Amino acid sequence: MIRALATVDLDAVRSNVRVLRSHLGPEVRLIAVVKADGYGHGALPVARAALAAGAAMLAVTTVEEAAALRAGGIGAPLLIMGPVADDQLADAVALGAEFTAWSARFLRTLGRTAAEGGRTVPVHLKVDSGMRRLGVAPGELPTLLDVASLEPGVELVAAMTHFATADDDPEFMAVQRAVFAEAIAPVRRAHPKVWFHAANSAATLRDPATHFDAVRCGIALYGLSPFQGDPAACGLRPALSLSSYVAAIQDVAGGEGVSYSLTWRAPRRTRVALVPIGYGDGFFRALSNRGDVLIRGRRYPRVGTVCMDQFLVDIGPEPRADGAEPRVTVPDPVVLIGRDADERITAEELAKLIDTINYEITCSLTSRVRRTYVGDDVGKGTADDG
Ligand SMILES: Cc1ncc(COP(=O)(O)O)c(C=O)c1O
Repeated sequence: MIRALATVDLDAVRSNVRVLRSHLGPEVRLIAVVKADGYGHGALPVARAALAAGAAMLAVTTVEEAAALRAGGIGAPLLIMGPVADDQLADAVALGAEFTAWSARFLRTLGRTAAEGGRTVPVHLKVDSGMRRLGVAPGELPTLLDVASLEPGVELVAAMTHFATADDDPEFMAVQRAVFAEAIAPVRRAHPKVWFHAANSAATLRDPATHFDAVRCGIALYGLSPFQGDPAACGLRPALSLSSYVAAIQDVAGGEGVSYSLTWRAPRRTRVALVPIGYGDGFFRALSNRGDVLIRGRRYPRVGTVCMDQFLVDIGPEPRADGAEPRVTVPDPVVLIGRDADERITAEELAKLIDTINYEITCSLTSRVRRTYVGDDVGKGTADDG
């Protein structure tokens, strides 16, 4: 049995790419966002699957993430969306990546570095249309355009923005869309080849008016709902399931406490099963005494504190002699995220229990969780166990 296993279904990734593309006009490109190791799913296999299903480009945040994709043999257009420090610029330029810029200083340094290496690098100018996180103020975009046009090492290819509320406040998203549209109107006229992108998964699924020339989708690629509801409601298929197994079973007397600080006491005589996965694997301690796991197609509640390496579930007293209850035994498989017979636990369900979002559930899975890949292409060289 594998102690902590994330199984990633690449067919689901491809299906989700097709669902996203079905929302887009024929000229609109899909940029697959595979930062944070593909939201915990594994950037390289997901990138390959997304490109195979029709994504036109990839996006990451860091130079290291871009380098890992290039080292894995990915030659597709690749946008670095985050800040790149001066001392990383030469390496980043050598990767043949595209850059996001929001300051004149960065454009000049990037241009000089690229020109020194005999290259011209594609640049996407980032406009802050209201999220107030990153980007140039709309009124300062013309100045930045002038700087970009004077730098021989820089080729302006796109302008972009990012929505703060596409998942939960479409009205403010529309305000940002309007701010961006107004800011880019003169750019469109002066630079007809430059393209524009703004939408994340939520905006892509919610409103075609946000699509412009390309969309940047992350969470939906993985079959997770940007709206924190049931992914199936958007036609998405969750790609990741997380499993472990029953490693031990103990009898517990009524009134006895279990795990650190004895935060759960058995209300009656029962048995607890030990599942050897914990917050050291990225399975949150906040899930202590919250939520269920699936064993033999049935839900069993998590009891006691989630430890670094293990937690317990209440599997009930010995089954009655008539066999009314299925008997849980060592080493039954345990599903923490995913399906088992007719039951299902989603990343959204876990997120809701601890007041976070599905993004954090999958991104938090640590390197101790073994990833394995299933789906049609795996036998053709896309498998990447590790
Ligand atoms: C700039 C930018 N664009 C696109 C995305 C993709 O967003 P989502 O995963 O909600 O589709 C992100 C992710 O946070 C982002 O930071």
